[in-house]
Amino acid sequence: MTDLTLTPAPLHRRHGSNIGQSLTRAEGALKVTGQAAYAADAHPAGMLHAVMRVATIANGRVASMDVAAAKAHPGVVAVMTPGNRPALAMDPDAKEHGFMFRLDLLQNDRVRYPGQAIAVVIADSLEAATEGAALLAPTYDEEAPLIGLDAGVPFVPPVVGAGAPAEASTGNLSGGLGEAAVRVEATYETPAQYHNPMEPHAIVAAWDGDTLSIDMPSQGMAMAIGRIAGLFGIDPAGIHIRSPFLGGGFGSKGMIAGPMVLGILAARLVGRPVKLVLRREHMYGPVSHRGQTRQDLRIGADADGRLTALGHHTRTVSSVFDDFFEPSSNTSQSVYAAGAIATSHDVVRVHAGTPGFMRAPGEASGSIALECAIDEAAYACGMDPLAFRLANYAEVDPLDGKPFSSKALRECYAQAAARFGWAGRPLQPRTMRDADGLLVGWGMGTAIFPALMFEGNARAVIRDDGRGMVEIGAHDMGQGAWTALAQIAADSLGLNLAETEFRSGSSDLPDAGIAGGSGHTATAGMAIHEAGAAVIAELAALAVDRADSPLYGAGNTGVVARNGRLHRRDDESRSESYAEILRRAGKAEVEGNGHAAADPASEAYSKHAHGAVFAEVKVDPDLGQVRATRLVGAFAAGRIINPRMVDSQLYGGMIWGVSFALHEAAVVDPRTGRVMNPNLGEYHIPVNADVPSLECIQVAEEDVHVNALGIKGVGEIGITGSAGAVANAVWHATGVRPRSFPIPIETLL
Ligand code: MOS
Repeated sequence: MTDLTLTPAPLHRRHGSNIGQSLTRAEGALKVTGQAAYAADAHPAGMLHAVMRVATIANGRVASMDVAAAKAHPGVVAVMTPGNRPALAMDPDAKEHGFMFRLDLLQNDRVRYPGQAIAVVIADSLEAATEGAALLAPTYDEEAPLIGLDAGVPFVPPVVGAGAPAEASTGNLSGGLGEAAVRVEATYETPAQYHNPMEPHAIVAAWDGDTLSIDMPSQGMAMAIGRIAGLFGIDPAGIHIRSPFLGGGFGSKGMIAGPMVLGILAARLVGRPVKLVLRREHMYGPVSHRGQTRQDLRIGADADGRLTALGHHTRTVSSVFDDFFEPSSNTSQSVYAAGAIATSHDVVRVHAGTPGFMRAPGEASGSIALECAIDEAAYACGMDPLAFRLANYAEVDPLDGKPFSSKALRECYAQAAARFGWAGRPLQPRTMRDADGLLVGWGMGTAIFPALMFEGNARAVIRDDGRGMVEIGAHDMGQGAWTALAQIAADSLGLNLAETEFRSGSSDLPDAGIAGGSGHTATAGMAIHEAGAAVIAELAALAVDRADSPLYGAGNTGVVARNGRLHRRDDESRSESYAEILRRAGKAEVEGNGHAAADPASEAYSKHAHGAVFAEVKVDPDLGQVRATRLVGAFAAGRIINPRMVDSQLYGGMIWGVSFALHEAAVVDPRTGRVMNPNLGEYHIPVNADVPSLECIQVAEEDVHVNALGIKGVGEIGITGSAGAVANAVWHATGVRPRSFPIPIETLL
């Protein structure tokens, strides 16, 4: 059992100085010494192992399975099929709101995509369950599948991918294109991508009557509980999820996925705790992915290089039974000033698992197309790519005219360009070579990601020993949430970290909302900030009306908390310690609760983090082999809680950008729809040797509108800009404009 309380080593930093410190991860030592218990490490008494059998066809029905053979295998306890799967209180295909995903829970014999679970074998060992699943030897009545963007059946989704409008426009696009002196029209294709967290989805589920205990990596424990409670018709209060550590999520663990519910069903069926861990290849189907796209960009510019039109249309996919899609075009709404902007999508149904949130859903895929097309437009205008972007700098949100809550993008451009050494770059492609004769190219891209907040809650306590505690059911995917949120917690209590106990990662703590949309630090951080303020107010109330307190008469708002003491604002030399205040009041502790949500007043602003990325690539002129050699990014994302964690997030994003441009793709068999590289050996992601020299500049930015802490979020922005910068550098090296990703090197020769 993991101890959910982590107290970082004392840092001797006090009163309001925790935020902004580059601390190392609070749980880092636990992780590198193997003491951090992940979900699959749980092993309650009597636990059985479950293994899914998944469909190898894309469309049709399961005709037969040899359940008897599986059950006859030594160690197999049960085989769960549509015939004996425990009843649910809710149809897994029902959808009560846009953020509810339909699930495959063995509701019938229908197969809707390759990789869908068609049975679950439960046994007393992993090996027996695995063998039992093999013995099922299913046969199918196969029907012709819809595979790929051109075969899919068009439909109009009721809700859009990330919740944003599917269609948006300002001005007259065809008018803007008509009046343009320079026009660029180009189509870009991006592949299906899969999240590939190091830790596959896993669950250990144990029922006790109608209460349920779960170990499961989750980016949204409270939402998962709501979904489980609805499916099983049980009281959400009886469901407890522990999710102290995640080995990555990237969006795939945001909404509870079908296989996790199958683990709960299996435990229900056998009346014992059950562990279900996805095999790597099971990660390519039922736990979402980034859908493939084809994006048409239409850009017009006048003789001075000012955009008269920017059109971005995306065709992408959803499954045959749900409606999420990758909203790539949305990214073109807020980046560049243009006389006319139109963004739109059309979506087709294919026999693939439902796409979902994958790190920067929409922005990652949309940004690479937009930045490539902008680069083409700059070249067509005979302008330096940076000068072209500056000429089209959006002073207000181009779509709705709202002012930006803050926007230090000019500083990002300037600082990253200076550090990269951009000045003097030749406009013409294929003009630079290194000493070995490799083609050298430099490219750039603009990064942008919305600054989002969701709802979250936290609870804070100050005790009569002068120490504090903050608890929140927050989620650390590896990004350092535990560390950064503890820093906010300590500051909110006016204590140092060693005096602040921080509890997180469990659903019996206050609901912190979802770790997604790059909004977790802002949301959970603001909940903590509010909880801290509430408990300090409670403490102040115990002192300010006491004649024997040095705070007497100061009023609740007339005190400041720091260094474990309340000080009078009007005379900071007069103070009283938390311990003294509580002892005099005869109280062991006081508590405060905080709630965070986006401030409605902030809706008057367009809220985004921004950045600029510059890339160098080298291309072998004979082989076409591309190496990204250098990336410099500068990002402005409001207040930075922990620069070390933020660097790490931005580096990770920039590496994803390199991966998007050069490496990553699910290869889908056009006949069967199956992913042919469902493993980390053949699904290419950058290894260390592929990661270029990375530099990241955190540009100072104060945002007084997004939230009281001024946090914008950094989880996803690093991908945007980076992928386009690499692609544009490939063009600059070779003179070949990449049109599909990852860039096929044979097109560069
Ligand atoms: Mo993210 S794709 O919002 O976890």
